[in-house]
Amino acid sequence: SEIPKVVERGVPLPALSTDVFKENIFLGKVVFCTGGGSGICKAITKSMMQHGANAIIIGRNLERLEASASELSSSTGKKCIAAQADVRQPQQLKEASQKAIDEFGRIDFVICGAAGNFLAPISGLSENAFRTVIEIDTIGTFNTVKATLPYIRTTRGSYIHMTATIQYKGTPFQAHASAAKAAIDTFSSALAVEEGPRGIRSNVIAPGPILNTVGMERLTSTLPGFSEKISTSIPLQRQGVTQDIANAAVFLFSDAAIWVTGQIFIVDGGARHTMIDF
Ligand code: HXC
Repeated sequence: SEIPKVVERGVPLPALSTDVFKENIFLGKVVFCTGGGSGICKAITKSMMQHGANAIIIGRNLERLEASASELSSSTGKKCIAAQADVRQPQQLKEASQKAIDEFGRIDFVICGAAGNFLAPISGLSENAFRTVIEIDTIGTFNTVKATLPYIRTTRGSYIHMTATIQYKGTPFQAHASAAKAAIDTFSSALAVEEGPRGIRSNVIAPGPILNTVGMERLTSTLPGFSEKISTSIPLQRQGVTQDIANAAVFLFSDAAIWVTGQIFIVDGGARHTMIDF
């Protein structure tokens, strides 16, 4: 199991999605996941594969992607391939989509997960620094949708966009990422409305603090004791693990969520209601 052995603060960790949802619900389906080489998006891809899907993971670091693809294939018995693309480059995403079609013949589920972030005050952000995060997160999402939509229309497929909860209040040192994620939240609603009549769904997952992710490690490593403070402030008394988000994605992609679109699914143990001050 990928679930960390630690039961944080005595609070139970999530079940595997295969313990809750039927196996093979995604048999014959294909997942296209940007940012799937690591972290939350790799965990989502793995769960989708455990339910029968094949997958293509997309990112900048081909070596890491290929290692992840082969690990995902061997641990699930399904096929995962890698495609190198920077989501800021539309042509590279078109090539990645074509690679998915050449290999699998279809794309059913798209996860727009590639993101870039760092902690910096507005006074310390250059114009290029702000633009870089907008380009990776927001324009990268747009580029991913543009590259995949023709195929998603043929399968009546579904999108999940990964955002965060930092954009729901003023989060210091995160102006760039907050602006980028807020734009994705609203872009997803427009996509849901435009493509809904074609049977295409578009939803957002907004994860709260998730352990062992680049974003949280950057945040908590600079502030001693911060991680523990976050855990105790969360109503459900622990930080998330990647499986919490993977389970949410399995539900949203499944036929159980067939009438769910244009939603922002906040998965955060209730953290948004009690978020501590920095
Ligand atoms: C101020 C910074 C900075 C920092 C980079 N820059 N780091 N400014 N403080 N700590 C500036 C650079 O000086 C440069 O501006 C501009 O940003 C672009 O930097 P590059 O390194 O040239 O960009 P690039 O190589 O494209 O890398 C993009 C990156 C990088 C975002 C800076 O960190 C990255 O690739 N990250 C990918 C992985 C990642 O961050 N994952 C976390 C996602 S977490 P100048 O003016 O000097 O040219 C997430 C969840 C959010 O999204 C919620 C968290 C709680």
